[in-house]
Amino acid sequence: MIRADEIKKAVREHYVRSLSTGCCGGGSSCCATTVDEEDRPGADLEGLTGPSLGCGRPLGYAQLQPGEIVVDLGSGAGREVLLAAREVGPAGRAIGIDMTPEMVWTARENANQTTVPNAEFRLGEIEHLPVPDAAADVVISNCVINLVPDKSRAFAEAYRILKPGGRLIVSDMVARGPLPGAMRENLTAWAGCVAGAVDVDEYLSVIERAGFRTPDVLTRTNAAPGQVFSITLRAVKQ
Ligand SMILES: C[S@@+](CC[C@H](N)C(=O)[O-])C[C@H]1O[C@@H](n2cnc3c(N)ncnc32)[C@H](O)[C@@H]1O
Repeated sequence: MIRADEIKKAVREHYVRSLSTGCCGGGSSCCATTVDEEDRPGADLEGLTGPSLGCGRPLGYAQLQPGEIVVDLGSGAGREVLLAAREVGPAGRAIGIDMTPEMVWTARENANQTTVPNAEFRLGEIEHLPVPDAAADVVISNCVINLVPDKSRAFAEAYRILKPGGRLIVSDMVARGPLPGAMRENLTAWAGCVAGAVDVDEYLSVIERAGFRTPDVLTRTNAAPGQVFSITLRAVKQ
């Protein structure tokens, strides 16, 4: 069985490569091609360095308000953090967290280029968020938690950093039923957002066990049994 640290190393290397190749490469699900271009708000941010690697548009469902604090788990090159920062305005703040240093550096360059002053990027792991308790109004994440070996820990951390009543909006890859065992052992499939996708009902249960109210599934794509598909969900901290 592959270890969590082997998965993380493969994921990190994969996303460093994506900064020069522009996307994930063969067979990947966490890729711009899974999202309609018309579903991408903020056309004026086009031209940023680094790819968009999401599988949904959580920001479209976040209903951000001026002054809110937003944290993006696995912020990549930072596009959604910059858009969120603009939405919450000067009284608010958007914070991106990513475990890949090259992604954090790219996102910081993008923040400088777009002169968005209320966006910041922190190096860190979703399982150990560098954010204090009850600091965020909103947590978003786009196509990342499938890459995390310990999903319970990831959602427990999201719960910890949210204020009571705070909302979690996640787009991610999940599976319809179990994936083939050999797939789970394939590091390339892990990094490509396939092998780490868990059954959708299990995924929703993990979120509830972390303490959130029953999540609402806002969008889902189709999949045959044993295949992965994308969902966007919203859950609220009790
Ligand atoms: C598929 S990309 C998505 C990036 C971004 N959300 C987007 O939509 O473009 C996955 C990102 O999650 C980061 N990541 C994966 N596992 C992580 C973890 N355990 N902690 C923090 N970041 C992680 C990777 O470094 C990568 O930047």
